[in-house]
Amino acid sequence: MERIGVGIIGVGLFGENHARLYRQDPRTKLVGLCDLNTVRADALARELGVGFVTGSAEELLAREDIQAVSIATPDFAHTGLALAALARGKHVLCEKPLATSAAEARQVCRVAAEAGRTLMVDFHNRFNPPFLQAKAQIDEGEIGRVRFIHMRLSDTLYVPTRMLSWAGRSSVAWFLGSHCVDLVRWLTGAEVARLYARSTSGVLARRGIDTADLIVATLDLSDGGVAVIENCWILGDNAPSVVEFQAHIVGTEGHINISAAPSQMITVSADEGHRALDVLAVQNTHGRLTGFAIESIRHFVDVLCGEARLLVDGRDGVAATRVICAIEESVRVASPVELTVDWP
Ligand SMILES: NC(=O)c1ccc[n+]([C@@H]2O[C@H](COP(=O)([O-])OP(=O)(O)OC[C@H]3O[C@@H](n4cnc5c(N)ncnc54)[C@H](O)[C@@H]3O)[C@@H](O)[C@H]2O)c1
Repeated sequence: MERIGVGIIGVGLFGENHARLYRQDPRTKLVGLCDLNTVRADALARELGVGFVTGSAEELLAREDIQAVSIATPDFAHTGLALAALARGKHVLCEKPLATSAAEARQVCRVAAEAGRTLMVDFHNRFNPPFLQAKAQIDEGEIGRVRFIHMRLSDTLYVPTRMLSWAGRSSVAWFLGSHCVDLVRWLTGAEVARLYARSTSGVLARRGIDTADLIVATLDLSDGGVAVIENCWILGDNAPSVVEFQAHIVGTEGHINISAAPSQMITVSADEGHRALDVLAVQNTHGRLTGFAIESIRHFVDVLCGEARLLVDGRDGVAATRVICAIEESVRVASPVELTVDWP
């Protein structure tokens, strides 16, 4: 079988995962890397033995030996690149969020459909074992009808201040809240009909990062259920893990509790302090990349090879973008926001 030629636009922290998986998967050939930071891209290309590096997305997309691309640029820089890739006939795996305006998200979705190309949005928590189990339990009727979800996905101050150079041009709602919105939709099968969101600011602003410290949103769902999502970017830097991730799901006949952040399974205490290590997202299993953040990328390849049906499509990307836009609007106007019923 001929291997699928793949390119990556944006090879920072997360784009690197895409690159490593494509390099390893026997069904793909990692043809080229693109990043505005060509020094970074060059270093990764040398390590992975990739022959083509460019700072220009157009140059990468012009290559006919590339049939599919991953887009892993910052949250605000997905739409133009996705549209350019689709215009060149490439299949697209786009990091979340698909876009930061509903109109742009719809446009990408429409163009992909017109071009007959696969468009996947990388909501990888649909591949995260505790949420996969929760979904199976819900679908089997184990807890009855889901009536309430409380989901908390938060980061320590390290993420917006030192890990991301662009936090001030995004928000905790785009970066973390979009995962929660997608999970709530997936777990319940319902859409968000109305929401009310509040935020607090000051800690990040005092450090020159112009974005909210935390955002809490109450979502009224189309099936009468309710969800509360809580996303914070200022957890204490001395926490053992940079991420906190909990969910509490209440049904008519039972409930599910999820603790999905690195906790006590493996901790390391040494000079750098006390750290809880990730065992779920990205793992090296005796040389083979595994973990839910890898499995979602592998799923994209499965779909391109006709081995799986697409699990997270452009319509899911549009839906999450619409909700996050409404959350940001609700924060701005300090009032509830209705979402019209033209769900994707
Ligand atoms: N870091 C995470 O834990 C994580 C997890 C899941 C998803 N994501 C998503 O992945 C995306 C990337 O996040 P990241 O953490 O890797 O950010 P990053 O800043 O580490 O990497 C982004 C890279 O994109 C490059 N870039 C920016 N604009 C570009 C352009 N026009 N053309 C080519 N390259 C460009 C930058 O130079 C940078 O190297 C975001 O949408 C983020 O929400 C990140």
